[in-house]
Amino acid sequence: MIPIAKPLIGQEEIEGVMNVLRSGTIAEGPRVKEFEDAFRAYVGTDQAVAVNSGTAALHVALLARGIGSGDEVITTPFTFIATANSILFTGAKPVFADIEAETFNIDPAGIKNRITENTKAILPVDLYGHPADMKAIMDLAEDYNLAVIEDACQAHGALYHGKKAGSFDVGCFSFYPTKNMTTSEGGMITCGDGEFAEKARMLKSHGSKVRYYHEMLGFNLRMTDISAAIGLVQLKKVEAFNEARIKNSMLMSEKLKDIPGVVTPVVKPGCRHVFHQYTIRVTDEAALTRDELIQELNHACIGNSVYYPLPIHRQPSFEGLVNGDAYPVAERMSREVLSLPVHPSVTGDEIQFIADTLRVVLT
Ligand SMILES: Cc1ncc(COP(=O)(O)O)c(C=O)c1O
Repeated sequence: MIPIAKPLIGQEEIEGVMNVLRSGTIAEGPRVKEFEDAFRAYVGTDQAVAVNSGTAALHVALLARGIGSGDEVITTPFTFIATANSILFTGAKPVFADIEAETFNIDPAGIKNRITENTKAILPVDLYGHPADMKAIMDLAEDYNLAVIEDACQAHGALYHGKKAGSFDVGCFSFYPTKNMTTSEGGMITCGDGEFAEKARMLKSHGSKVRYYHEMLGFNLRMTDISAAIGLVQLKKVEAFNEARIKNSMLMSEKLKDIPGVVTPVVKPGCRHVFHQYTIRVTDEAALTRDELIQELNHACIGNSVYYPLPIHRQPSFEGLVNGDAYPVAERMSREVLSLPVHPSVTGDEIQFIADTLRVVLT
């Protein structure tokens, strides 16, 4: 079986964890601070606040920006559920804008006419590792005085015209095991604003700056030193991981060229796509439906997955929480997308096998 994702944990990560366990400081401690410093240097922001998941990063970032009941946040309906849930956690209302078919990311053209006097933020997602159209989004945010909370959970090291994902206004990252780098569970908020970072720090630790003095209602969303020890080693490797993903993806696109009904991923000019997922579209012109193709891939022991089969506005948990607008591109993409393995442990021979299998069953 060629798995769709595989965390790469080496001896250094194991030793890092063992050292933490031996130290006795196994909750938040010096490793977390070291990891925050290393991660902010990597992203190129002044501040980084570690938390225990990407979901926590989004939740805390929205709260630290003062977003709550009565506010609206514009986001994409084509993402992992946590993106939109984080808005609901604050009491604010998610407002969806449709996506671009090329990059699967929110289409800035659809954002403007959804801005109302209640809109407080835009929450774009760098889906699959391709940055959202950040210039257009930052321009809109400036014109309408909105915060931009960038969900970079899938985009460690992605670049938009030379700037790292997560370095525009506020960035939120996940270190879940399938991501381009991991800490087991874990997350990070990146930003340039020291006051905002201080608020985020309080929110993730019981609203407290000084132990047992609580200035606001907060949570326990802290990262542990055990996770940070893994993250410190993974951060040293993430560029090699990203390069391997990009190399595998370029090879896959080359080998899938000209198969009718298969649309390979697009990389927009000036962008570095870090291929958290390599996602093709299986259109109506293909010889098999997507479901039939999935069966063929399963039969050939080729890992694959649909991210995401049901757009958020159609999720049962969102019933009654969103307006009845149509999002035709998101709907079409949820019917057409299919992700294939390109993670760093996939070999050139395996890419050849995956591409050959697709070509045989689709031509
Ligand atoms: C786009 C996106 N947003 C948010 C999250 C939430 O991250 P986590 O699973 O670390 O809570 C994920 C990861 O699963 C994600 O892919």
